[in-house]
Amino acid sequence: MPRHIPDLVRQHDSWRYTKCINLQPSENILSPAVRKILGSDMAGRYTLRSNEFIDNGGAPNSYGGTRFMDEVEAEGAEIASRLFGAQTSLKPISGHIASLLLFASVCRKGDTVMSISSMDGGYDGYGSAFIPDIFSLKSIDLPFDRTRWNIDAEKAASAIRSNRPRLVILGQSFILFPYDVKAIHDACSDAGSILAYDASHVLGLVAGGVFQRPIQEGCDVLIGSTHKSFPGPQGGIFATNDEAIWKSFHRNTTWRIIDNAHWNRIAALAQAMYEMKKNGRNYAHRIQMNSAELGKQLSDIGLRCRFPELGYSKSHQLHLDPESVARTGTTFGGLSAKLEDNDIIVDTTGRIGTSEVSRLGMGRPEMKKIASLIGEALQGRNVRAKANKLRRSFVIHYI
Ligand SMILES: Cc1ncc(COP(=O)(O)O)c(C=O)c1O
Repeated sequence: MPRHIPDLVRQHDSWRYTKCINLQPSENILSPAVRKILGSDMAGRYTLRSNEFIDNGGAPNSYGGTRFMDEVEAEGAEIASRLFGAQTSLKPISGHIASLLLFASVCRKGDTVMSISSMDGGYDGYGSAFIPDIFSLKSIDLPFDRTRWNIDAEKAASAIRSNRPRLVILGQSFILFPYDVKAIHDACSDAGSILAYDASHVLGLVAGGVFQRPIQEGCDVLIGSTHKSFPGPQGGIFATNDEAIWKSFHRNTTWRIIDNAHWNRIAALAQAMYEMKKNGRNYAHRIQMNSAELGKQLSDIGLRCRFPELGYSKSHQLHLDPESVARTGTTFGGLSAKLEDNDIIVDTTGRIGTSEVSRLGMGRPEMKKIASLIGEALQGRNVRAKANKLRRSFVIHYI
């Protein structure tokens, strides 16, 4: 007899929403307002406005009953444009789809693209077997300095000048520190390359005005997911001040990469943009403070985080030192399983994320508690009740 779906969802929600301490850097928690909007009637509706590329036979929209959805989208795009410093679309239905839209909008078959290798923490999707393969592009890795966990800006600038790629993409799935965008921007200008920044992981920090401001620092395009450090529903954004790229983005959106853009998601994202406009700066500062503190506290209990000499991190992520984890007799996967038994959630790649605990208003004292719970769990003690109690004493902040 299959278990009842609403019952499974209720159990999931109760577990993840009231008991778990979530330290996954690719996830976040939604405000009650955003969650409610996701379940609105808009989840079952369509809108398709006419534009330069879509002709609805003279009608402004090929669907009826769209007036509120169209207003919500315009309002959300307007707030997002102010947050990111460029005209912004909320239509990409994920970070990956925003990437596809970027490639479709600026690259042609045979072009060269440069990005950070997945061996250096770059996004797997930019590997030659994935998105570049779809568009028949040549893919070259950007030089990376693993000792500083950052792009080697000098070598990257010279590689860009000699390879003259059509597109350079900054951004990583394993990201700790901001890049020297200016040096790379200057090289891209010389080489005639378009410079894009995939802020999927750090979008909440960018929106909060910390970490870095890709558009203001010289990037032509900003793309990203809206649900990692940015506390919105799962989705994506595409932002640019370049009119030709903006036009090409619109040409490539409807009926090429997407059709229905999920209007309940867009409404929920517009609400999350509003929350970030109001309180994003404090939230982003809290994340950076908590990352530095948790890095120190974990290292103090013998679970060393990488790059102590650089303050561990300027982002919402910490990277555990694999040797230090091995010394406790386990692996990243083993650590994840052990912690999950205690309602503390981390992924299996050695990343620890501070977005969600920061959104709950936790601060330095709680980072110390979390490190100590992790240490106890690693020693085989059951700390589930303590983890549940800590989680329950916090509600969502910055809304
Ligand atoms: C840097 C980067 N870009 C893009 C993506 C894809 O994002 P999404 O899961 O929203 O499609 C990810 C996913 O983890 C990522 O880390």
